[in-house]
Amino acid sequence: MDGSATTTRTKVTAIPGDGIGPEVLRATRQVLEAAGARIEWEEAMAGAEAFRKGIGSGAPKETLDSIARNGVALKGPLETPVGHGEKSANVTLRKVFEMYGNIRPVREIPGIRTPFAGRGIDFVVVRENVEDLYAGVEHMQTPGVAQCLKLITEVGCERICELAAALAESEGRTRVTVATKANIMKLTEGMMKRVGERVLKGHPALGHEHMIVDNCAHQMVIRPEQFDVVVMTNMNGDILSDLAAGLVGGLGVAPSANLGDGVAMFEAVHGSAPQIAGRNLANPTALLLSAVMMLRHIGDFATAAKVEHALYITLEEGRDLTGDIAPEGVEGVGTDAYVARVIANLGRESDKVPTREYRPIAMKKWPAITWYKAASTRELVGVDVFVESERDPHAIGITLQHAAEGSAFDLKMISSRGAQVWPEMGGNTFLVDHFRARFMFREPPKGDAVAEITDLLSRIGRQHRWMHIEKLQRFDGEAAFTKAQGEG
Ligand code: NAI
Repeated sequence: MDGSATTTRTKVTAIPGDGIGPEVLRATRQVLEAAGARIEWEEAMAGAEAFRKGIGSGAPKETLDSIARNGVALKGPLETPVGHGEKSANVTLRKVFEMYGNIRPVREIPGIRTPFAGRGIDFVVVRENVEDLYAGVEHMQTPGVAQCLKLITEVGCERICELAAALAESEGRTRVTVATKANIMKLTEGMMKRVGERVLKGHPALGHEHMIVDNCAHQMVIRPEQFDVVVMTNMNGDILSDLAAGLVGGLGVAPSANLGDGVAMFEAVHGSAPQIAGRNLANPTALLLSAVMMLRHIGDFATAAKVEHALYITLEEGRDLTGDIAPEGVEGVGTDAYVARVIANLGRESDKVPTREYRPIAMKKWPAITWYKAASTRELVGVDVFVESERDPHAIGITLQHAAEGSAFDLKMISSRGAQVWPEMGGNTFLVDHFRARFMFREPPKGDAVAEITDLLSRIGRQHRWMHIEKLQRFDGEAAFTKAQGEG
């Protein structure tokens, strides 16, 4: 679709949001309208105003309905009230629409001073957006020990890696880096590594590599120009995408997209900047760049290029920029003067805009079913029982061995925060009142294995407080659990 030639308008939900949100959204709409984008805006409310009206999710039903109807949203920042128990409205929107892919382009922008200027940084971070530690499944295990479940699913890894590949292909990029902590978290981060490698083999035109995520952080700083597309699980992606934004000028100029099946929401990376709200000081560049991504998403490549060129020319020439990005010694102007300058530059071409053949991202469809993966064999081989105790490991070992007498299990080891402390290994592991006791079936259970576990738990419960258990299983002959540090 060519923006100048189309007659129909695409409906887009516009969420002004909080703080500087309304100003940067207004600015962005002005530029898009001046550029001839054929968009029909549908304004919707979310964030602080919703919380004030007692809508605990931060997003009223009308807003959710509007996004569902239109499938595309451009959003200003939403305040997350701290300490009021409300959930983040941003997270609500991402989760309600299962926007599993967070896309953050990281590209050097002319006129933006950074220590990395001139290096030709131009890559995209693809972050899984709904799983991992951000599933938010947390429990206090003891009064002094907290736990957060890191949930990683095979289909979730597959989705995000397929999206990374599709994005690379849509922008004519050639290489995908899967960055994980698989060396330490062999089942969770390891799943991302294994699935990533498998998915990317299905895209033979793309090169791919695996990189340990801490080295990836290091490489992003020492040689950022080596990256093309980097895909990560949620928390790693959260942290490294902010690091990456810092390389090219920081939050004020960093755009993003949240993509799901049939829904896409575009927003600046920055927050609501309450200190400068309502003062005509906000820089709308990040939201404008997000709107450029949105225009490409709706297939209006011509208007996207027109806005991008005008923006680049404006930044390159350094006239009429907002205070946060104005060249040294030059006074910044207001949001409205900056917008007027960008609008005046529409139609001019910058040679700094990288030439890319953008195509629509061919996103794979993931049917809304309950994803189920069967195993041809399953064996229950033991159980980890987590107990709270103020005693030392030797004493706990004796009591738990005693508890297991007459049950179907042998106590194999006890660990504290992942390191084996019984049988004793030497060293001086710091101890807290949270122990994992690993019991293995003495021989493969013939009868009701779960009843054997219940029996063991009631024996343990006579002497110890236990807070949760994990079955130790083998799927298709492979151990579905990892060993403790030091476990033989
Ligand atoms: P922030 O991004 O609002 O501000 C950080 C610093 O950058 C401040 O000095 C601010 O003035 C400046 N800044 C940010 N955007 C700017 C712009 N466009 N032009 C000029 N200067 C700009 O981050 P902060 O202070 O941590 O968060 C404020 C609120 O925003 C919080 O309630 C937070 O929860 C929310 N937030 C919302 C996000 C979203 O809706 N996606 C993302 C991040 C934060």
